[in-house]
Amino acid sequence: MAEAAFTKRVFSGIQPSGGLTLGNYLGAIKRFVDMQEDDYETIYCMVDLHAITVWQDPAELARNTRELCAGFIAAGIDPSKSILFNQSQVPEHTQLAWIFNTVARMGWLNRMTQFKDKAGKNRENASVGLFAYPALMAADILIYHATHVPVGEDQKQHLELTRDIAAKFNHDYGVDYFPITEPVIEGAATRVMSLRDGSKKMSKSDPSDMSRINMTDDADAIAQKIRKARTDPDALPSEVDGLSERAEARNLVNIYAALTDQSVEDVLRDVGGKQFSEFKPILSDLAVAKLSPISSEMARLMQDTAEIDRILHIGAEQAREIATPILSKTYDIVGMVR
Ligand code: TYM
Repeated sequence: MAEAAFTKRVFSGIQPSGGLTLGNYLGAIKRFVDMQEDDYETIYCMVDLHAITVWQDPAELARNTRELCAGFIAAGIDPSKSILFNQSQVPEHTQLAWIFNTVARMGWLNRMTQFKDKAGKNRENASVGLFAYPALMAADILIYHATHVPVGEDQKQHLELTRDIAAKFNHDYGVDYFPITEPVIEGAATRVMSLRDGSKKMSKSDPSDMSRINMTDDADAIAQKIRKARTDPDALPSEVDGLSERAEARNLVNIYAALTDQSVEDVLRDVGGKQFSEFKPILSDLAVAKLSPISSEMARLMQDTAEIDRILHIGAEQAREIATPILSKTYDIVGMVR
């Protein structure tokens, strides 16, 4: 249904709640760039309203939003090909989110693992916004009638909820209005793991900086983190099956595959049999070669924040052109008198 009735439109978002990691780059931004080159209309958003569901220092939030915008552009998002903006400049997101708060059920939100992880043991003290977070995320996507949403593996549950919200809205109001969005979770690096613990996701909130590669790390830091990355004593296998019980080895091979746009099979054909003492320097050189042009371009762009603000403002205007009529029709469907 989504394919037939709606334009092929991509939406995705990233929280400006800290620096970008290699996980964000390989799991999200790099794939956003690929989709920009395909036959899609692409809309990418810095979700500042999501970020404040946990405390953000205001000056840091503004800096992180601009730095994230610089990261998008440095990695290859072209503001003349994609709509690039920050969420709070398009109030239609929160207007639709309110309606979705009335569609989503407490039971659905109670099942969200990200809420449980982020709220931790002290749920009573979590913000209401953190609980309602997925309804805003559904609104981000559906305010554009987006059909495809590229994300990392950790967002899968939120995208299923987005489909449930769209379906329930359509059912309750007897319309075929919101598309049933396709999650796009593809490639070798949909779940980049911590360099210190292969069972944990690489995350900007991990207390150990050695667990992640930040997009702003210099060559020495990247090399040191990969050298110290936890591994096992065996050589790399030649077949994918040989990685099944070796989370850390699998993670480094996945990173290599994603950075070189190869399949894991092809990578193992080249590096199978190598010891980590040999593979790690190869991976580290590759990571530095791919990431340092991005981090230096980010630093250059950050010297002109007025230009970044201008890009975000133009992007927000373009986004509103799509969002305004979709919200207006939604209000008509719901019965809001204007
Ligand atoms: P956020 O900001 O945590 O992460 C942004 C994107 O990066 C991906 N990602 C990873 N991919 C692979 N390995 C990792 N270790 C890794 N860490 C993060 C995430 O899957 C995501 O694609 N709720 C979203 C933001 C959001 C959104 C949206 C996304 C708000 N509205 C609408 C899509 C559509 C989030 O917290 O992502």
